[in-house]
Parts: sequence; structure tokens; C-alpha cells
Amino acid sequence: MSIPDIVVPAQRNLQPQAHFQAPRRIPPASLSSSSPPFSIVHISDPHLSRRYYREHLKSFKLLLRSILERRCDHLIITGDIVSTADPDDYFLAREILSRFGLLDGKRLTVVPGNHDIFGGPHRAVDVLSFPRHIRSVDYHRNLALFREAFSETFDGALFLSGDNSYPFLKRIGPFSLLGLNSIPPWSLWSNILGTNGSLDEHQFDSLRALAGSPGIAGTIPIAAIHHHFHDMLDQDSCGNSLWHSIEARTMKLRNRRRMFRLFGALNIRFVLHGHIHRNEVYERSGITIANGAGSVCDDPTRYLKYNRLTYAGGKCEIETEMLPIPFQTAGVTLPLKRFPAGLSQSRLSPLPAL
Ligand SMILES: [Fe+2]
Repeated sequence: MSIPDIVVPAQRNLQPQAHFQAPRRIPPASLSSSSPPFSIVHISDPHLSRRYYREHLKSFKLLLRSILERRCDHLIITGDIVSTADPDDYFLAREILSRFGLLDGKRLTVVPGNHDIFGGPHRAVDVLSFPRHIRSVDYHRNLALFREAFSETFDGALFLSGDNSYPFLKRIGPFSLLGLNSIPPWSLWSNILGTNGSLDEHQFDSLRALAGSPGIAGTIPIAAIHHHFHDMLDQDSCGNSLWHSIEARTMKLRNRRRMFRLFGALNIRFVLHGHIHRNEVYERSGITIANGAGSVCDDPTRYLKYNRLTYAGGKCEIETEMLPIPFQTAGVTLPLKRFPAGLSQSRLSPLPAL
């Protein structure tokens, strides 16, 4: 069976068709094994900056080069593309992505992370000044700056929430990709460091309207969002329990249950995210979730890596592929190495056939 196209109207900003009478649940994708193979690569949190973490620039370029040398039909970056929310750093990110031919809606999708909007403390001394600095950040200006900086990547997207850019919907090969903004404005009570996540009511309303329409039937729905789905308070804290408690309360995504109910109604199979700097694939409520935030930094396994979501022969699977290239470190260019003993090149996560 051929895959029906998503109807993308000529005008970008449309109100969702909430009046549409349709089944409560979108039927699962009905792709055949003869549909052509398609490969999505997912990375996150490169934290590009002219001033800090210059080693990330080299890591990021090495990673992009390696990804594009292998099969990559579409690249998704789930936020914290820059570290400072500085326009110069956006320009730098644009420059790099452009050099690799990625400033194109067909080749790249991005969603914002908290560092793209608020920046963050980068030196020990910033920890004291950042809570004061963040109050002066113009949230809406920076969100618009993010959209403008990567404007070409939004070409072909259908914006589901009127003049709000999120959520947006893109048809990518056999997939329907929902791009979400999990970065809420600053709040003294619920988002004092800008690191907590949530979806605003516009996004919930738009997802609900989409769940009641046939718009993504016959495709494999996936979502891209910055925040993770762990409850860090439930996890064992190794080390400083006070710090763990602070981290758990300032790095969390609110309304996860409500989100999962909607994801279920939309038949979402995969969620791609970042935020906690490590790569991992895990399950929540029957949905496979992949974190790509250890692609260029901080992951305990200090090698460049990415997640690959592959559709082939009527089956879908996601895996983390690790390159034989260590993270670059400040001022030092590390030689290429073989993998340390005991590390496999990929952690394969086979999934049931569709
Ligand atoms: Fe990050």
C-alpha cells in the first residue's frame, strides 16, 4: 500500500481543524515491506559557542562529517544547539550547518533547548550571577531568534497552532515528525533556572486536534522534543544527594502523563530528545524514547555518537551508533583510536515490525 501524503496547505499558519469528526485514535501505520528504506539520524546538545567549549565545535564538525559519509536521509537536532543564546553563536551554528549543506527543511529539523533560549552558567562564577541574569532574558525574542536562525529548516513544516511555531508537523519519508517546544518562560516558582520543561496549552490543544484528524494516518508518527522523560527523583543518587535533589527539581518535564496520553492517541512510536547529556534508548508507556544528548560531550562513553532510526523492509528500529572518534577536549586534538575493550560499535534496539 502506498503511503498517503499529508496535505500541506499553501498558507503556513493555520488553525487546527478542531471540528473535524474523526476516530479518537489514529490507526497504526500500514506501510508495506516494499516501501523504500529511510534513515533518520538524531543528535542533541552540541552546545556550540565561540567563547566556551570550543572543543565542541571540532567534535560537532567531525560528527556531521561522519554522519553524512554514512546514510542519512534526515538529521534531527533536539535542542541546545548553542550554549549562550547569543546571536553570534547562532550565526556560527548556521555557518557550520550551511557548510555541510544542512540548512534545508528536507535535510534537517531542529527544536529549541533551554540553552538556545536562556543560555546558562558556563563558569563557576556564573552560577551566582545566572539566576539574576535569566530574569532579564526576553523569552519571546530569543524564541523568534531561534526560529529565524534556522528558518530554512522550517520550510515544508505545517504549523498547527496559529501563529505559534510549535508544534509543527513535517512529512519525512515514511515518518510524520512532530516538533515540540518544551521550553517554558522563566518563572520564579516553576522554572527559576530555565531548565524545567513543559508544553503550553496551545501545543496540547493542537496535538489534541491532530489526534482527531486523519492528517498523519498511514505514516509512522514520531516526536522531537528537548526534555527527557525520566523522573530523576525516583532514581538512585550516587554522590551528593542534595545536588541530586536540586537537579531533579530543576531538570524535569511537567505533565508527562498528559503528554503520554496524547502521544498514545497520536500513535507515536518514537520520541527523540536531549537535555541530560548522555545517549540512551528506553521505553515509557509503550513508546521507544531515545536521548541523543551525549553526542559530542559529557556522556560517560566519551566517543562521538548518534542515534539512527531506520525504516526498512516494513520494520523500524533505533540504535545508537558510536564512532571510533573520541570527544575532542579543550586545546588538545586527540588521535583517532580504536574502541576500548568491551565497547561495541552500536547498541541495537530492535523493535517489532509495523
Ligand atoms: Fe544541554
